[in-house]
Amino acid sequence: MGEFVVTGAASGIGRAIKSALEIEGHVVIGVDLHDTDICADLSNNDEVERSIQTIRSHCPDGLDGFVPCAGTGVENPNKKLIPLVNYFAVVEMVEGLMPSLQLRRGAAVLVCSNSATVQGHDEGYVQCLLDNDRDKAVELAESLTGFQLYGGGKLALARWMRKRSTSAAQAGVRLNALAPGYTQTAMTESGMKDPVVGPSMEAFVKSIPLGTGAQPEDQANAALFLLSDKASQIAGSVLFVDGGHDAMFRPDNF
Ligand SMILES: NC(=O)c1ccc[n+]([C@@H]2O[C@H](COP(=O)([O-])OP(=O)(O)OC[C@H]3O[C@@H](n4cnc5c(N)ncnc54)[C@H](O)[C@@H]3O)[C@@H](O)[C@H]2O)c1
Repeated sequence: MGEFVVTGAASGIGRAIKSALEIEGHVVIGVDLHDTDICADLSNNDEVERSIQTIRSHCPDGLDGFVPCAGTGVENPNKKLIPLVNYFAVVEMVEGLMPSLQLRRGAAVLVCSNSATVQGHDEGYVQCLLDNDRDKAVELAESLTGFQLYGGGKLALARWMRKRSTSAAQAGVRLNALAPGYTQTAMTESGMKDPVVGPSMEAFVKSIPLGTGAQPEDQANAALFLLSDKASQIAGSVLFVDGGHDAMFRPDNF
């Protein structure tokens, strides 16, 4: 059985992915702020580095898969956490664990979002993330809305994954991403309750073509497929698990 790492493993989609892997008999190391194997604040560079080193020392023979799922949402008043956790920590951890993934010809599944394509974004902010300009991203975070930060960060993550996937694949590692639509978790529940973002989130959910939002298990099913040998020819793909929303909003954009 395989060895996997999942961040954001204490709640929502990350927790569902961790348990689905465990049900299949795999060993899974969880990383989160609390209530899991490695407790770390991934908005902090040193904690990211410590997590990488701890994982490497626990898995000297390599890793079969990695899912950097930890993230924070549009309602977070500490806006700089959105770029730090949702983008920079993900990229740093994928790079830091790449040698471990190479040892087992493993796979990583990044967790993007359909907000990357269905919401407006600020191209300057997206570029600053892709340029790895941490200071500027944090500075820009103060002037942009939560939606611009969140969707723009997920867009940058998808572009980063696609750019990086060629060299990763040549080294034997498959990089792919999930783009979940609305999924019922602690993050979306707190967004729904927020007086500013709640009403637009509610309208968004009502417009999902399949008529309902996803459950964390729906995202876990897709993540397990992308991690598995059944996806052995899939690299650099973004899989929308969003009830048909992305296709509804931009049918010709392909
Ligand atoms: N729920 C949705 O509708 C939805 C849609 C698209 C994408 N996503 C993405 O899915 C991922 C999981 O979200 P979720 O909906 O399961 O939310 P969630 O709030 O249930 O889980 C997020 C987890 O990330 C952890 N986390 C947050 N900040 C952290 C930090 N600084 N250090 C370490 N861990 C931290 C939290 O403690 C929590 O356990 C996120 O990346 C999110 O952006 C969610």
